Amino acid sequence: MSLAPASGPASATAFTPRVFSGIQPSGGLTLGNYLGALKRFAGYQGGGAETIYCLVDLHALTVWQDPERLRQQTREAAAAFMAAGIDPARSILFNQSAVPAHAELAWLLSCVARVGWMDRMTQFKDKGGRDRERVSLGLYAYPALMAADILAYRATAVPVGEDQKQHLELTRDIAAKFNHDYGVDFFPLTEPVIEGAATRVMSLRDGTKKMSKSDPSDASRINLSDDADTIAQKIRKARTDAEPLPGSMEGLKDRPEARNLVNIFAALTDESPDAICARFEGQGFGAFKPALADAAVAHLAPITGRMNDLMRDPAELDRILRDGAARADVISAPIVEETRRIMGMIPKR
Ligand code: TYM
Repeated sequence: MSLAPASGPASATAFTPRVFSGIQPSGGLTLGNYLGALKRFAGYQGGGAETIYCLVDLHALTVWQDPERLRQQTREAAAAFMAAGIDPARSILFNQSAVPAHAELAWLLSCVARVGWMDRMTQFKDKGGRDRERVSLGLYAYPALMAADILAYRATAVPVGEDQKQHLELTRDIAAKFNHDYGVDFFPLTEPVIEGAATRVMSLRDGTKKMSKSDPSDASRINLSDDADTIAQKIRKARTDAEPLPGSMEGLKDRPEARNLVNIFAALTDESPDAICARFEGQGFGAFKPALADAAVAHLAPITGRMNDLMRDPAELDRILRDGAARADVISAPIVEETRRIMGMIPKR
């Protein structure tokens, strides 16, 4: 796992190595969230960097959420993190809204970020669509909040899927502008860590569209809460083509659906996509899909089982999140206080 030290071109500051990442609890987590991000999070624990993982409930609010469901989904996401190997004793696991640094720093950084930068965000264009005038102001300002999430901990590395790359570049731009405008070397230029075979898991119904929790078709995705039969059925029905599999990924360049399934297989089993192709060379999807379904069920069923166990004790999940928030506050409050001081606010103490 590459955890390159974050530093600016002329940075003299040695930043404490810190991994930060977040997932929106705006619906059940998908195989895309899992393979692109969550599966990789546990691997950073005990690797010499502090690990901080966040359920970004303030981000979820940028589109309407039923309040009781949001609370429930936040607990479910916390259970998913732990089921995927996040140990709350070794990592800090919390929900964003419980730590004031996020919202406060988001405002301070909104005054550094430029409207033109926000206008270029492809995710806003996609989500806002033709209805731009009617979406929430929060949806537009969202990348400044994301920069605040990361910079409130002066995080040096952020593991994410491919779709977050532009937001992380913006985070670096905001950090660099802040450092430049105030003549400091205060925020690191955080490294995005986008690695593995599944940095962009595609829909099972359309290989050109990202697998997403907001896709109206449930058949387009695998949810971490799906049972074994549902997973097998969705894989069986996944769109493919009639060609046999080639001996290497080179042969899948123009076959997005087939490429996606091979990448999913590789990410689930920690093999290379080329090794998967070599194993199934010359075979059709009649042979490949049952093997993929078996691999998916073998990998995901224990996680779903652990999630269900953890969900039986919501009070304990809430306690773990509160404990994580208190520890997150200890790191982030002084960083925001120093940011306030640098920007010219009278110190609180
Ligand atoms: P979110 O909640 O949409 O997704 C969480 C993580 O899952 C990854 N991901 C995928 N990876 C591969 N294939 C897919 N189909 C797929 N779908 C989702 C995402 O890249 C992400 O890593 N803005 C972020 C949440 C966030 C955040 C942060 C992340 C807020 N603040 C600070 C890192 C650091 C988001 O909406 O992710």
